[in-house]
Amino acid sequence: MPKRFFVKSYGCQMNVYDSARMSDLLRSGGHVETSDPAKADIIILNTCHIRERATEKIFSELGRVRELKSERASQGRKTKIVVAGCVAQAEGAEIVARQPAVDIVVGPQAYHHLPALLEGCASSPAIELDLAPVEKFAQLPLPARADIQARGVSAFVTVQEGCDKFCAFCVVPYTRGAEISRPVSAVLSEIENLAASGVREITLIGQNVNAYHGEGPDGRTWSLGRLLSRVAKVTGIKRLRYTTSHPLDMDDELIEAHRDLSVLMPYLHLPVQSGSDRVLAAMNRRHDARAYLRIVEKVREARPDIALSSDFIVGFPGETKADFEGTLDLVREVKFASSFSFKYSARPGTPSAQAKDQISDEVKMERLANLQALLEEQRQAFNHATVGRELDVLFDKPGRHQGQIAGKSPYLQPVHVEHRGAVIGDLASVLITAAGPNSLAGRLVEGKAAA
Ligand code: 5AD
Ligand code: SF4
Repeated sequence: MPKRFFVKSYGCQMNVYDSARMSDLLRSGGHVETSDPAKADIIILNTCHIRERATEKIFSELGRVRELKSERASQGRKTKIVVAGCVAQAEGAEIVARQPAVDIVVGPQAYHHLPALLEGCASSPAIELDLAPVEKFAQLPLPARADIQARGVSAFVTVQEGCDKFCAFCVVPYTRGAEISRPVSAVLSEIENLAASGVREITLIGQNVNAYHGEGPDGRTWSLGRLLSRVAKVTGIKRLRYTTSHPLDMDDELIEAHRDLSVLMPYLHLPVQSGSDRVLAAMNRRHDARAYLRIVEKVREARPDIALSSDFIVGFPGETKADFEGTLDLVREVKFASSFSFKYSARPGTPSAQAKDQISDEVKMERLANLQALLEEQRQAFNHATVGRELDVLFDKPGRHQGQIAGKSPYLQPVHVEHRGAVIGDLASVLITAAGPNSLAGRLVEGKAAA
């Protein structure tokens, strides 16, 4: 019987992508998506385990969902609660113990089993946490044209999953398993299908996307640089991006792709986490600050207009004031366009969670505030420096006001203009006239529609 389902995604873009694939899967089985959990027969929470706060959020959401379930039960309606994603993988059976209203726990590598699990779990909870590196994607349906169009002109495509790097703070190797790469042909057919339905911008995603080593049509192993060059040729694709990368895997082929591919956007998210060599070593990052700066230099030589962004962790165990100053120095040297920064969160099962020299929350808060003030200053400086430049903008939604349209610059900045006939999906040259705190304003440059 067709059911109504509701999916909520937490955490990274990988989860956003997985949520969309779960929706596609359920829709292909005749079920219907709803944006109202109170109306849903199936409620799926696609969860994130990266920091303590993320995980706690899931348990409070589960409390609310359980209330919905009992309200619906009092009206004679059944509800199945599904916990998917990284908390599912990490906490497995404990979720059901802590929240007995949960019917299904399914890990990020096992969600292709969702229809069978939904069929099967009439009485007791079902738990499916197989991490085997199978091509789960091969067993999932491609999204339908109408669904692709509803999701807009930009799409994520997972090309790589998992992580073999084992940074000392990180749960990903345990929640997402070992690194695997999808074959080039599978990635291409997915992208061709998206492009044929109007997608114009593709972001290739992976926990460690630049460690991509997928099987090419020639039987050889392809790097990310090579994959990008091939995807750049797909008809209809006007922009390419990739995220998230590790400095160790920034190979020459990838750096050259930034020089050679005009559709590859001049924007690189390359997390450094810390600017202190001591902390980087303790984090098991396997590079020092100089090596990172050298990569930034090479990337900027290849593509002088490239913008950099990074993730940072403050208050890693043993981080001294001098170590933290090292991070500020690195930030001053690189000048980031945008960044994410977090207080260190001790995650169960990770090596650094056991470290004796944990930093107090007070110190972490102070360092985070200092770092964020500097990063914000740099973000604003970057935004203001685009005023007076002509940037290509990919329009992706109606503007805030009548007659306006909004889109993204190559640097992911939201840009608002008078549309003058431009429609969603167009890529056009825009003269940037003003920078606000979170977006830019500009005007279309006559006769300069980008190719
Ligand atoms: N504590 C704080 N931040 C973390 N990240 C990953 N694990 C932790 C943790 N235990 C951050 C890193 C990573 C981003 C996705 O999340 O900066 O790049
Ligand atoms: Fe969170 Fe990492 Fe899982 Fe993404 S892969 S949802 S960031 S724990």
